Amino acid sequence: MSILEVNNLRVYYDTMRGEVKAVDGVSFKLEKGEIFSIVGESGCGKTTTSNTIMRILPPEAVIKSGSITFDGINLLEIPEKEMKKIRWKRIAMVFQNAMNALNPVKNVGSQIVDAITTHLNIPEAEAWRKVKELFELVGLDPSRLKDYPHEFSGGMRQRVFIAMALSCDPEILIADEPTTGLDVIVQRNILNLLRDLRKKLGLSIILITHDLAAVAQVSDKIAIMYAGKIVEYGNIYDIFTRPRHPYTYLLIKSFPKIGSKKERLVTIKGSPPSLINPPKGCRFHPRCPYAIEKCRIEEPPLVNINNKGLVACHLYDQLNLVI
Ligand SMILES: Nc1ncnc2c1ncn2[C@@H]1O[C@H](COP(=O)(O)OP(=O)(O)O)[C@@H](O)[C@H]1O
Ligand code: SF4
Ligand SMILES: [Mg+2]
Repeated sequence: MSILEVNNLRVYYDTMRGEVKAVDGVSFKLEKGEIFSIVGESGCGKTTTSNTIMRILPPEAVIKSGSITFDGINLLEIPEKEMKKIRWKRIAMVFQNAMNALNPVKNVGSQIVDAITTHLNIPEAEAWRKVKELFELVGLDPSRLKDYPHEFSGGMRQRVFIAMALSCDPEILIADEPTTGLDVIVQRNILNLLRDLRKKLGLSIILITHDLAAVAQVSDKIAIMYAGKIVEYGNIYDIFTRPRHPYTYLLIKSFPKIGSKKERLVTIKGSPPSLINPPKGCRFHPRCPYAIEKCRIEEPPLVNINNKGLVACHLYDQLNLVI
């Protein structure tokens, strides 16, 4: 059963230069106990999607359409007072660049205790006991509870944030680029930690990243996002063995495969478009090596492929994208 269902979500930012169509018709389902990854380059709307689920959007953001159903409740319709009972307590998030956001003059244990006592009505001594448990859960040595952020490596600080996000026992954890800026081994350790937490706690996880290779090892299902839209969606095995969208294909080819040294890596030319005036037709057409005239004019619909996933490309059944 789905624990979270996002349906036709549109979130735009009102700016002096015009409306930024950051999330433009996004739908997906998160199943209970699943790791679902949203993958795409920077500027494709991933953080806006997760901030909308948490309802922590800045004032210039406007939700144009859609619903986000959690436990039978549309999170976009409930008053803030009700959302406060869900945010952090039932759905928690590790923010992009979180590991650089700890308070440098306060020991890490106290910072987690503060987070706990802000959200839960429990005495401080009990909160400290909880922090010790959380430290153990995320693989940190509880003897270091009173250490300061600068005494921790980047990977350890990220673990502190994961502990903080788990402090109210949420059912869903959203991790926005949790491994960006970490070296490859530490990245792998953090992703393995998420996988262990899913197993131990029965957590459902939304993992957001620009690094497709990183999610391959831990995800069950992925959505590839480009310029505010999902362009391909399916289970991890199908997407990696048989991508149907050129963007997915190029993303896979642009990361080195584990164990293959000689492989020539592909680079995707250019960068994602401004979302004030995104390209007409298929938004990927200016960068797509397979684009035809139709791609410049007509937007490709997101179609179901034999119940094996969804893809939005006019040529999805004609291209032979071999991995
Ligand atoms: N507060 C904001 N005001 C205006 N535009 C924004 C704001 N936040 C994000 N954007 C724009 O929305 C688009 C999607 O951004 P974001 O959701 O952060 O993408 P991602 O997480 O995939 O990098 C980008 O074009 C970005 O510049
Ligand atoms: S619709 Fe056209 S431009 Fe878009 S990904 Fe498919 S082939 Fe490329
Ligand atoms: Mg982001």
